[in-house]
Amino acid sequence: MDSRINLKKILSLCVIFAICFLGYTRFWWTQHKEIFFQVLQRNITPLYPYLIEEEEKCRAQTPFLLLLIPSDPQEFHIRNVLRNTWANESLLNNVHIIRLFLLGRTTIDEEKVINESSQFHDIVMQDFIDSYYNLTVKTLMGMEWVARWCPGVRYVVKIDTDMFFNPWFLVKNILQPEGPPKKNFFTGFILYNALPHRDKGSKWYMSMKTYSKKFYPLYCSGTGYVFSGDLAEKIYWAAEGLQMFPFEDVFVGMCLQKLGVTIFESSNKFIGEKIPYDRCKFTKIVTVHRFTPEELLTIWPDFLEAMETCSKS
Ligand SMILES: *[C@@H]1O[C@H](CO)[C@@H](O)[C@H](O)[C@H]1NC(C)=O
Ligand SMILES: *[C@@H]1O[C@H](CO)[C@@H](O)[C@H](O)[C@H]1NC(C)=O
Ligand SMILES: *[C@@H]1O[C@H](CO)[C@@H](O)[C@H](O)[C@H]1NC(C)=O
Repeated sequence: MDSRINLKKILSLCVIFAICFLGYTRFWWTQHKEIFFQVLQRNITPLYPYLIEEEEKCRAQTPFLLLLIPSDPQEFHIRNVLRNTWANESLLNNVHIIRLFLLGRTTIDEEKVINESSQFHDIVMQDFIDSYYNLTVKTLMGMEWVARWCPGVRYVVKIDTDMFFNPWFLVKNILQPEGPPKKNFFTGFILYNALPHRDKGSKWYMSMKTYSKKFYPLYCSGTGYVFSGDLAEKIYWAAEGLQMFPFEDVFVGMCLQKLGVTIFESSNKFIGEKIPYDRCKFTKIVTVHRFTPEELLTIWPDFLEAMETCSKS
């Protein structure tokens, strides 16, 4: 009798002790994790020093949409054409849009860029060499800028300068300002099972040493992709542990894979190749690849008119 009671007592003491121990370690672990998380949160820092930062750009009013447009410092003419066409910040009624060109360092025409920047206040520039193989650095500059200076922005578009872009269709049909804000949202022209280029002569050559897998992860073409503002900081953090990869769109795909974000399929609304201008068709898509500034200037007035008339038929 006595020994059985003792055994019960010992057993229950053991159970209580085990519960306390587990509880304590769990407490310690969550505390520890939280502290770790907070430390990271406080440390968003640029990869290179900013030469032009435009930290006031988002202060007065948090925009609905931010356009991040990587641009070569010498593309003065293209930037002006875009300001007058699809990158015009006041195209949409009641939708606050902000435009930022992303530039790396330039030695020639530096003064001209500074001049342009003080006129339009739509250029951010970091101190890294502006080159094709530094486009990932440029995209990360954009992510870092959003995370620090515009964290409340609802959506971000990263779009190249050689594009046609229809902000109305994107905002009204895909982003839908009257609906609930989307989180972890990412969309664009999706590339499925893309193969790394293994021939050394290719602009997109990828060595087995840098990337040995057969396929790239799912990613959206860098010509034009769209994401919810919350992802800027997440992508920036996800990038930290990854090897710097020269192709920014594939690199962002790797970050999304690491974050477990599912890319939203916007069935053929982002056109990855050049298609001929068709006024009504263009009112129902978001992007088309390969437009020269001259082509853009030519079609734009007609396209504005089509936006008024095509939807009504
Ligand atoms: C931008 O669009 C608005 C509204 O359509 C127009 O009034 C304005 O002239 C445009 N600005 C530029 C620089 O094209
Ligand atoms: C800078 O702007 C000023 C005034 O707009 C102009 O007079 C000057 O020539 C510009 N400098 C350059 C290098 O473009
Ligand atoms: C990218 O920029 C950095 C910083 O200026 C520079 O050291 C590096 O050589 C550049 N890389 C390429 C591929 O241009």
